[in-house]
Amino acid sequence: MNRVLVATGGGDCPGLNAVIRAIVKRAGQEKNWEVLGSIQAFDGILSEPTEVILLDEKKVSGIHVRGGTIIGTTNKGGPFAWPVKRADGTYEYADRSDEMIRKLGFMGVDAVINIGGDGSQKISQALYEKGLNIIGVPKTIDNDLQATDFTFGFQTAVQIATEAVDKLVTTAQSHNRVLILEVMGREAGWIALHAAVAGGAEVCLIPEIPYDINKVVERLEQRFNRGKGFAIIVIAEGAKPVGGDVSGQKSSEVGYENLRLIGAAARVMNEIKQTGFEADMRETVLGHLQRGGIPNAYDRILATEFGVKAFEMVLKKQYGYMVAYRHPDIVAVPLKEVIGIEKLVNPDSSLIKAARGIGISFGD
Ligand code: F6P
Repeated sequence: MNRVLVATGGGDCPGLNAVIRAIVKRAGQEKNWEVLGSIQAFDGILSEPTEVILLDEKKVSGIHVRGGTIIGTTNKGGPFAWPVKRADGTYEYADRSDEMIRKLGFMGVDAVINIGGDGSQKISQALYEKGLNIIGVPKTIDNDLQATDFTFGFQTAVQIATEAVDKLVTTAQSHNRVLILEVMGREAGWIALHAAVAGGAEVCLIPEIPYDINKVVERLEQRFNRGKGFAIIVIAEGAKPVGGDVSGQKSSEVGYENLRLIGAAARVMNEIKQTGFEADMRETVLGHLQRGGIPNAYDRILATEFGVKAFEMVLKKQYGYMVAYRHPDIVAVPLKEVIGIEKLVNPDSSLIKAARGIGISFGD
C-alpha cells in the first residue's frame, strides 16, 4: 500500500476541505493508495502519541462545502521551530525536522502534500532539501503569492468584505456618518481593493499606496453638504500613512512569529478627527469573519483543481514543486523559485485605474 500524508498549515482559509476531498477522491481512483491526515499541521506527526487519521471517501464526503479544515491547522512552531519550555518558564525552539522525516519513514509514508501559505511552503522546501518527498499547495485569503494568479479563499473573503460594505452603506446613510471597514490582507491590499470597488466605497487605503490624511479628508468633504451625507472607507490592516509604519503589535503567543496587524481603522479615524473633520465616525474590524464559513463556488472549484493536481504530481513524483494557477492552467512550479515572493497590488494596474475612474480615493 502506498501512502500520502496531507497536512494543512498556517491560518485557515475557505476551501481547505475541498482540497483534502479532491486529493482523497483522486487517490481513490488509483489502486493501492491510502491518504493520511496529520492533525494540526505537522504537530500530528511530532506529537506523542502521533495524531494522524485515515482520510477515506466516507470521511471526506460533502466536506467541500465546509469552512475550516477537518484536520486542523496551526500557525505556530513547526518541525524547524518546535517550542520547548525551559525550567524558568521561557521557551526555546528545537529543530525536530530529522526526527519527523524518520517518523514518516517508519509510518510508511511515501509522499507528503503540504497545504499552506508562504511560511508553510518555506517549511516544504526545507524538508524537500532534507530528502522528504513533498509537494506544496498554496492557500491564503490574502492572495499575496506571486506564484499563482489566485489562491482559493480569496474570493470568499472578498465576498464577505463586500457584503460588509453593503451593510455599512445603509447605516452610514441613515446617520450621516463616515464608516470605516478594516479588512485583512497583511502587506497586500487585494481584499480591500476588491471589496472597495465591488461595494462602492469612497476611500480605499492599501499598503501599496501610503495615504496622506488631508487627501482622505478632501474626498470625505465632497460627500458631505452642511452636515448631510455619508462615506465608506475600506482600509487594509497593513495600510500606513506616508512616512509612517503599519499599526500592529507583537503577539505574546508561544511560537507565533508574525506581527499582529491591528488598529489601522482606529488610527485613521483618529487622524481624520485631528484635521477638524466634524461628521460622526465609527470603525468596524471584520477580522476572522473573513476566514470563516462556507467557501464560495469559485474557491471550491479552484481548491478541487489544486487537490487533483497535487495528487497527480505525487503519481509523477514531482517533489519539491508547488501547485499554481496560471490562467487557464493548473501547473507545477518549483518551490525554491516561488517561496518568499510576495504579490502586491500594482498602483498602475487596471483595477486601480478603474477604481480611480469611479471616484475612489486612495488618499494620494
Ligand atoms: O494570512 C491570513 C491572515 O488572515 C491575515 O490576513 C491576517 O493578518 C492573519 O492571517 C491573522 O492571523 P491570526 O489568525 O493568527 O490572527
